[in-house]
Amino acid sequence: MRVSINQIKEMKFKKEKIVMLTAYDYSTAKLVDEACIPLILVGDSLGTVMLGYGSTIPVTMDEMIHHTKAVVRGTKQSLVIGDMPFMTYTNTADALRNAARFIQEGGAQAVKLEGGVTVAEIVKRIVECGIPVMGHIGLTPQSVHQLGGHKVQGKTPEAAERLLKDAQALEQAGAFAVVLELVPAQLSKIVTQKLGIPTIGIGAGPDCDGQVQVISDMLGLFSDFVPKHAKQYAKLADSIRTALADYINEVKAGKFPTAENSSTIDESLLEELAHA
Ligand code: KIV
Repeated sequence: MRVSINQIKEMKFKKEKIVMLTAYDYSTAKLVDEACIPLILVGDSLGTVMLGYGSTIPVTMDEMIHHTKAVVRGTKQSLVIGDMPFMTYTNTADALRNAARFIQEGGAQAVKLEGGVTVAEIVKRIVECGIPVMGHIGLTPQSVHQLGGHKVQGKTPEAAERLLKDAQALEQAGAFAVVLELVPAQLSKIVTQKLGIPTIGIGAGPDCDGQVQVISDMLGLFSDFVPKHAKQYAKLADSIRTALADYINEVKAGKFPTAENSSTIDESLLEELAHA
C-alpha cells in the first residue's frame, strides 16, 4: 500500500518528521522506496542534475512524464509527486491537463507547483478535480530571473509577511503540504506553527515538519556545485571516479574479464568446429 496524503498530514500532528527525497530513475527510486521514505519528488531539478541544463527552466512535460514513469515503476510504498515544469500551469486549463498527465500517464499520486497567492485558484481547481497538490514557496527556481538569483527569501518584514500569506493561501486552496525553499529558519518556524498542513524545508532550518533534499546532492553525485543547504551523506562521485579508473586499468592490463566473468563450451565442440 502506498503512503496517502492523509498519513502525511497526520505526521504533522503526531510530530513525526517527514522525510522526502527526489528521484528520477527506476533503480534509485527502488532504493528510496525500500528505505521507507514516504515522499518521492520527481523534481524538475531533473533538468540540472540529470539532463545537464543550466536551470530547471528548459524541462518539458514529456521529460517529466518519462522520468515519473520510471520512478513509479521502481516504487511500491512511497507517494510519488510529479513536479510541474515552468509555464505548464499559467492558466487553469493547462494546469488541469498537465496535472492529469502526471497522474494518468506518469502514474504519480500528486503534483507540486511553485507559487503562493498567485497560483492559489489554480491549486484549488486541481484539488477539486481530485489531484493532491504540494505547494512550493520561498525560493522558487522557475522564477530565478525574476528573483535575481538563488537567494534566501523572506528577509524583510514585508517579504516575510508575503511568504506567510502565500503559505496560508496554499493551505486554503487545499494543498496537502508546502515546500519552503531558502527561507530563514525563524520564519519557517512561524509558518510551520501557523499552518495546519506540513511544511517541508530545503534550506529552511530544522523546525519545518519535514525535510527534502535533491538526491544527487545528498549522495555527493552531482559535483558541479554543492548547495549550502545540502549535506553529503556519501561521496558517490569520488567512488565512481575510483571505479572507472580501476576498470580502465584492469581492461588495459588484461585483468578483466577473468574466467569468472566468462562462459565456456565443451572443448570437443571446438574440435568439431575446427574440422567443419
Ligand atoms: O525540483 C526539485 O528538486 C525541487 C526540490 C528542491 C523541492 O523542487
